[in-house]
Amino acid sequence: MQLMTSCAAGAALLLLLHCCQIASIVGHESALTVVKNPDGREGGGADEETEVAVDEEDLEVVQPTEDWQTLKPGQAVPAGSHVRLNLQTGQREVRIGKEQLKYWTQEHRETEEIQSTISPDDLKWAMKKMKEELNPDSVASKYRPLDELKRDLAQLDLLVETDVQIMKRLLDQFNSSNSTTEQRLSILLELEYLVHQVDNAQTLCSMGGLQLILEGLNSTDIRLQESSAFVLGSAVSSNPVVQVKAVESGALQTLLTVLATAQPLRVKKKVLFAVAALLRNFPYSQRHFLSHGGLQVLSELFKADGGGVLRTRIVTMLYDMISEKELISQAGLDLVLDASHEERVHQYSQVSLQGELLEKGWCSLVPQLLESTEHDYREKALRALLAMAPMCLDQYRLDSSLLGSLLSLRDQYQEMVQSEMIVGEENGYFAEIVELIHALQFKMK
Ligand SMILES: *[C@@H]1O[C@H](CO)[C@@H](O)[C@H](O)[C@H]1NC(C)=O
Ligand SMILES: *[C@@H]1O[C@H](CO)[C@@H](O)[C@H](O)[C@H]1NC(C)=O
Ligand SMILES: *[C@@H]1O[C@H](CO)[C@@H](O)[C@H](O)[C@H]1NC(C)=O
Repeated sequence: MQLMTSCAAGAALLLLLHCCQIASIVGHESALTVVKNPDGREGGGADEETEVAVDEEDLEVVQPTEDWQTLKPGQAVPAGSHVRLNLQTGQREVRIGKEQLKYWTQEHRETEEIQSTISPDDLKWAMKKMKEELNPDSVASKYRPLDELKRDLAQLDLLVETDVQIMKRLLDQFNSSNSTTEQRLSILLELEYLVHQVDNAQTLCSMGGLQLILEGLNSTDIRLQESSAFVLGSAVSSNPVVQVKAVESGALQTLLTVLATAQPLRVKKKVLFAVAALLRNFPYSQRHFLSHGGLQVLSELFKADGGGVLRTRIVTMLYDMISEKELISQAGLDLVLDASHEERVHQYSQVSLQGELLEKGWCSLVPQLLESTEHDYREKALRALLAMAPMCLDQYRLDSSLLGSLLSLRDQYQEMVQSEMIVGEENGYFAEIVELIHALQFKMK
């Protein structure tokens, strides 16, 4: 275990940080990790190590060496020295702080992590307390008996909130009629960070947080809508349990309603992110999406988007859904079929994506993305066009502007591949685009 302090205001935070580590060692839930001692032990040994610097004015300052030296009451050490408390003798020992640099880099990283999880009030309280204790005039700071030290640690321990406690506090604050929009926004940011952990996202649901997030999506404040969509998207990403709960809570309808009503681009982007995360690998929600007119909403959005950012995201989403379904059905060809696989195939078979895409006019919408000037957008469009080819071929063949686009893009990219070869740059990306174009042209013959 390490206890670290350094002079002035930084002291409290550092000490606090390492108390957090202690808390995680003794089994509390904590977002922080245990940091190894310099000599490789994971804490819990006989010694507690500290890095201490005390106001040097009134004290006899000891110059540390590479060997451990026992510190007498009243003696101080230079900042950055390595001090440990020997729990057997109760005496403090010092040596030169070799690992100082390493500690500092760890320190900075962890400072960033913890800042969001300790409230300013807790911090002020801790700093005040630390300052009192580091005051060189107080007897306690010169030599503190072990029991006292332990008691202080226990008090600091109370400051360490588990993720569950943090989320409870954040949700209460969010739900309080007192909170300002600014406060709510910063709460949503903190939640967004927390819900990347699978357990946290599930806890958020069981605490009723999903409902609050959905209300945030319905808010008239676009910043609240944007941040709520961000939290929701992150919470459902790769989290089947939360995906199910979200769909059961009507999240999909709410998201589609927000998308269907006029909104600034930034809100739409985040809402699309949430929709895509909610649909990914989840045929049940894909079915709901289709039956609630999701493709209709997306096609309106596609038509209205001039810049191409939303178009590209939409097309990527469609591509993902098509290839997901393809992969599942192909897997059946060479894998031993088990019950869960059959169930998945069955569920995907109920997602009538292809038919809907055809019906809602996507065979002629997606080619429009080729008109973009961005290579990346064009590439996404080509991949989606290929994936949609089985149902769209007839329409592709009749689409003269698609045929024209493909010809001119092929020439353009072939030329770029040539010039890339001349200047010796990596040939890959544009050659890949040429191949996609060729593949599509071949299918359309
Ligand atoms: C509103 O804030 C005041 C202090 O600012 C607090 O005493 C009160 O309990 C809060 N009310 C609610 C509903 O949270
Ligand atoms: C929000 O507050 C209302 C009452 O004001 C309460 O019924 C509801 O359970 C609270 N929700 C959460 C998630 O705390
Ligand atoms: C959001 O608003 C829609 C109507 O616009 C309503 O049907 C839905 O229940 C609302 N959701 C929440 C969580 O308030």
